[in-house]
Amino acid sequence: TGLAENLKRGSSEPPAFAFAFDIDGVLLHEKEPIPGAAETLRLLDKNKIPYILLTNGGGKRESERVAELNDKLGVSITTESFVQSHTPFQELLEGPDSFRDKTVLVTGSHYEKCLDIMLNYGFRNVLTPADIFASKPSVFPFQPVKKTEQQGLISLPQPIYSQPFSANDSSDVLSNHLKIDAMFVLNDPRDWALDIQIFSDLLLSHQGYMGTYSPKNGNPAEPNCGWQSDGQPRLYFSNADLVWSAAYHLPRFGQGAFQYAMVGLWDRITGGHELQRTCIGKPFGETYRFAERMLNAHWKRNHKIAGRGNTSGTELKSVYMIGDNPESDIAGANGYRSENGTEWVSVLVKTGVWDEARSGAKFTSKELEPKRIEADVKSAVGWALEREG
Ligand code: G3P
Ligand code: MG
Repeated sequence: TGLAENLKRGSSEPPAFAFAFDIDGVLLHEKEPIPGAAETLRLLDKNKIPYILLTNGGGKRESERVAELNDKLGVSITTESFVQSHTPFQELLEGPDSFRDKTVLVTGSHYEKCLDIMLNYGFRNVLTPADIFASKPSVFPFQPVKKTEQQGLISLPQPIYSQPFSANDSSDVLSNHLKIDAMFVLNDPRDWALDIQIFSDLLLSHQGYMGTYSPKNGNPAEPNCGWQSDGQPRLYFSNADLVWSAAYHLPRFGQGAFQYAMVGLWDRITGGHELQRTCIGKPFGETYRFAERMLNAHWKRNHKIAGRGNTSGTELKSVYMIGDNPESDIAGANGYRSENGTEWVSVLVKTGVWDEARSGAKFTSKELEPKRIEADVKSAVGWALEREG
């Protein structure tokens, strides 16, 4: 049945359900809209059915990505209905352990854009691997991929490097050199070789001082080898996608592949230690909680418009998560325990990462198994509207 037939015509009641749409492999293949996607979103807009876009993509300001999506899909969403992989990193600026004045290294597919994103969020001391390469080119014997960014992007308050660290050096000997407190990956890194070299240097350093080496971090003979104690730089990834659905007909490696390269290297360097890191994005609960709060705010705005006054709590009964990747979209919706008792219904489409012939009809675990499989986003929404009757 056509989508329009499934909608309650003229109902004044704002619907008690909403949608969360993945982007890559559901709405777009890179910059190309997937057939049916634009008309589906426009129909939901026309019938005031709330939705958000929930992507593991990133690497641009939310405002820039939203403007591109509106242009491509002919809709007019705002950043209030848009969650990308690194959006929740802003929460690290709050509270007693705020990162606001800490020094953070950031990477992704475009160093300069990553720097801009973090500064725009409110992080104050931000640098990229290009800055480290620019301050000491010998740190990486080969020319990084993007020549244009080798000059370094910001003037740093003090030199990055410290003298080689010796066990009897006290930390104040190093204090007039740059200490990097955390490393962030905002989207798929482009220059893996330079990034992994710099990340590994910092993981093996003394307390994040670039140019130092602390045996306890990387020498398997050391009792605390591999254990990143306090003061060591923290490592944050914004998604764990091993692959994603781009313009090529087969899935492409994502940020998760970079993460697993780091995990494998750390295992080899430390003789078997698990790399300690934080990873957000789908399928992790914090991302779905962040998304649910955004949807509830959206739903309450609709209710105010419908004259329903201030609804306490939420009557958002169901959210339909439409995705193409069982390991992120489907597992996340299946595993998320809503703080408001909202039902998250996972719907897998065939236009992205998952392909019955390649992936096999059987799902390897219950958490990867969608509530429903549909051909594409249009038929997925049609099924959901019918289910809502
Ligand atoms: O880098 C983008 C990729 O990881 C997946 O994006 O929109 O399918 O969650 P999306
Ligand atoms: Mg996707």
